[in-house]
Amino acid sequence: MARHVIAPVDELPPGTRKFLEIDGRPIAVFNIKGEYFGLMNRCPHQGAALCEGPLIGLAQSSDPGEIEYTKLGEIIRCPWHGWEFDIRTGQSYCDPRRFRVKAYPAHVEPGTSVVKGPYVAETVTVKVESDYVVVEL
Ligand code: FES
Repeated sequence: MARHVIAPVDELPPGTRKFLEIDGRPIAVFNIKGEYFGLMNRCPHQGAALCEGPLIGLAQSSDPGEIEYTKLGEIIRCPWHGWEFDIRTGQSYCDPRRFRVKAYPAHVEPGTSVVKGPYVAETVTVKVESDYVVVEL
């Protein structure tokens, strides 16, 4: 599993997503309330750019008239036909047994573990001060 540095943490604040291509695969990395998740940006239904859809919550009902709205901002709705997937796992809420979006673990690593330092360039010391978002494929 190769590690890929995606962005400094400051460039991916909570509630945002970043689109990129890694090894020819379209990926989106999400910051959901300070947790990071990677998802293949291709809907398993008909191939839409899934991660361009809106982030919503999950409406569940155990009894008629009783609706519980959970996972606010953790479900992505495909912009083409509205299928819904869990950002954390890629699980479909339309047909969980047949459809799943490839999910990639993402996490934050200290800048010093991503880029070894300190460096010396023409007698100038370089220090890494910020952390980076990293995704694993
Ligand atoms: S392409 Fe995503 S729901 Fe149809």
